[in-house]
Amino acid sequence: MPRCSFDFPWASPVHASFRQLLDGVPRSKRRLHQEFHAGVAVGCQDRKFAAARPIREMDVNAAAYWSERYRRGETGWDLGGETPVLRELLQRGSFPVPAQDAGRKGRILVPGCGYGHDVVLLARRGYDVVAVDFAPEPLGWLGEQLSRKGLAAQLLCVDLFELPQHLSEPVDAVWEYTCYCALDPRRRDEYFAILRQVLRAQGWLVGLFFPLSSEPLGEGPPFPVSREEVLAFGQRHGFVLRQRLVPQSSHPARRGREELFVFQKVS
Ligand SMILES: C[S@@+](CC[C@H](N)C(=O)[O-])C[C@H]1O[C@@H](n2cnc3c(N)ncnc32)[C@H](O)[C@@H]1O
Repeated sequence: MPRCSFDFPWASPVHASFRQLLDGVPRSKRRLHQEFHAGVAVGCQDRKFAAARPIREMDVNAAAYWSERYRRGETGWDLGGETPVLRELLQRGSFPVPAQDAGRKGRILVPGCGYGHDVVLLARRGYDVVAVDFAPEPLGWLGEQLSRKGLAAQLLCVDLFELPQHLSEPVDAVWEYTCYCALDPRRRDEYFAILRQVLRAQGWLVGLFFPLSSEPLGEGPPFPVSREEVLAFGQRHGFVLRQRLVPQSSHPARRGREELFVFQKVS
């Protein structure tokens, strides 16, 4: 299993830039999620943590690794707000699934949602959102945000590789952002298979893939992403690429290092 590297010197440009984002993590959020107790979201269980264990020795495939990062406030991926690219897609009406169609809400899955700023955004726009993360800490925080704002979403505290058994019905679209790069790269193929499985026929995989890099896979997360690999997985799992673009609306710290791929499930 890959060992993880938050404390590892972030030698590559990809790692260095991800680490810089740590400076922007709001203190209030660190405190809030520390105060939160697991169990707010569906399926969460109280977990015991071996906090003394160096995080780089923990397994990125295990919920305990991610929980530990949330508990320590080592959440450098968190932008502290909704993803500008998603906001723009929704504002322009370019997201492939409408919030409402013939009286039915568009159903969107957000895998590895973390604090779920995009979940809040989608719920506010009127979507039926399924938010998945196997770390209970961010889901607890997200649950509170949703209820404070009078919004609702389905929060599932489960391993996304077991998602099909927890979903009552397929989703119309997946919004993928920084989940792919967080997974053990050896499980990326399986991840695409799961996304395909939970999408309805003709459903959409809308992925903003970050951090793009031509460097070989090193220690992570984040594990670098290659455009060619994303395209190959899409093709292998029966998706057709309908659109791709390098958005100008990316967060300034990520501009030029992420690309939007809009796939449709066709077979
Ligand atoms: C890098 S963070 C990104 C969070 C969020 N997408 C964002 O942009 O702020 C990756 C998230 O995926 C979750 N995650 C990783 N592997 C997972 C798995 N197998 N099942 C469910 N969640 C997972 C982690 O707990 C973490 O919250």
